[in-house]
Amino acid sequence: MTVTSPRTPAVASADQLSTAAEHTGPLRVGLLGCGVVGSQVARMILSRSDDVRARVGRPVELAGIAVAHPDRPRARLPQDLFTADAHALAARDDIDIVVEVIGGIDPAYELIMTAIEHGSSVVTANKALLAAHGHEIYAAADAHGVDVYYEAAVAGAIPIVRPLRESLVGDEIRRVMGIVNGTTNYILDKMTTEGVSFDRALSEAQRLGYAESDPTADVEGYDAAAKAAILASLAFHTRVRGTQVHREGITGITPEDIQAAQGMGCVIKLLAICEMEPEGVSVRVHPALVPQEHPLAGIRGANNAIFVEAREAGHLMFMGPGAGGSPTASAVMGDLVTVARNRARGVAGPPQAIFGDVPVASMGTVHTRFQLSIQVSDRPGILSQVASIFAKHGVSLQTVQQSALEGAGKEDGWSATLRMVVHETRESDFEACLAELAGSPIVNGEPRFIRVEGM
Ligand code: HSE
Repeated sequence: MTVTSPRTPAVASADQLSTAAEHTGPLRVGLLGCGVVGSQVARMILSRSDDVRARVGRPVELAGIAVAHPDRPRARLPQDLFTADAHALAARDDIDIVVEVIGGIDPAYELIMTAIEHGSSVVTANKALLAAHGHEIYAAADAHGVDVYYEAAVAGAIPIVRPLRESLVGDEIRRVMGIVNGTTNYILDKMTTEGVSFDRALSEAQRLGYAESDPTADVEGYDAAAKAAILASLAFHTRVRGTQVHREGITGITPEDIQAAQGMGCVIKLLAICEMEPEGVSVRVHPALVPQEHPLAGIRGANNAIFVEAREAGHLMFMGPGAGGSPTASAVMGDLVTVARNRARGVAGPPQAIFGDVPVASMGTVHTRFQLSIQVSDRPGILSQVASIFAKHGVSLQTVQQSALEGAGKEDGWSATLRMVVHETRESDFEACLAELAGSPIVNGEPRFIRVEGM
């Protein structure tokens, strides 16, 4: 998308920034959006002004708030700050920092580009936008010498963007594995602790305000995939878009899957996993079995957690609230103070550390472990036929467990469920094995499988 500017773009050149450094007047903030997060950001800018001034070295002033309905009364926020004209606010020459908390691609992309072209630094919580157009936005910010900060875009209040972008930039990240969607973690946790169905847990999540009335973005993994793309880009210094992330949601998880997981000493979590494979960066979001002793297994309710494996630092765990007005506003305020400090000193923060062009590896190249279950007849020779299919595809069995089949299929002679865990294998080999099992006359119906992580 090309953004046309109503005037010559105000590039924040070194000269301009050094002029800014000589100023002592207030830094002015334009806030785009005043919903659950935006209203908390506005409240914090106004109520914490003394602290913010002390930390920045200059006052930080709320100069305008763009909303769809500026006349709607809003408690404790001055009415004269509100405007319906978001574009005019983003383009204002007297604004230093634009905070975007509208969400979505349109009109957020155009507004952010307008702000950058007019020399404003940007703070955003917009994961969908950054996963789709982050690299165009970062390039524009670099060209105009301004900052783009986005701590709140991934895992709400949890500091993870800055640790990857700054604290760990001298290390080598090997893997990032996290629970980055609170709604799905709440649903899976409820299914685990109360044995309820997916539908029942989803209704409860909606009643409590975690899940939207259309829960697709959360339960089908789109929200987590956008965050995974941002994490992978940061961790591996390359370009990963949300559409390049392998994505599976949790709608197919049944109470029986949860019980089977518990029988193996595991819980089911929706994981976002970014890692370096020989063929490139692999980025995936899918439900997985996680051993109960793994730090991610203990993440309860709507919390998020991210487990980082770095060559020198070792294993690091970041955990906390991944959504909600105040927690997300805390992350936005951290960025706002950082960006304001940079402006006050006439500098820009570190550039996006994108210096590689590592390809995104296809899912078939990923190496992981699987648990699968099939229905078979409990007759002599069946297990050896099943085992030979695994052997043919080079997939090694670690454990095999047989139980009497209950329910559908039993009356037709399918008398046993075989539940197997395989050693780490290439996904494409496992898929070939699965396809042959599905087409085999000794297997009833489609095999069910789930990946196993963290063992
Ligand atoms: N809907 C998200 C979640 C929060 O449930 O974690 C915003 O990304």
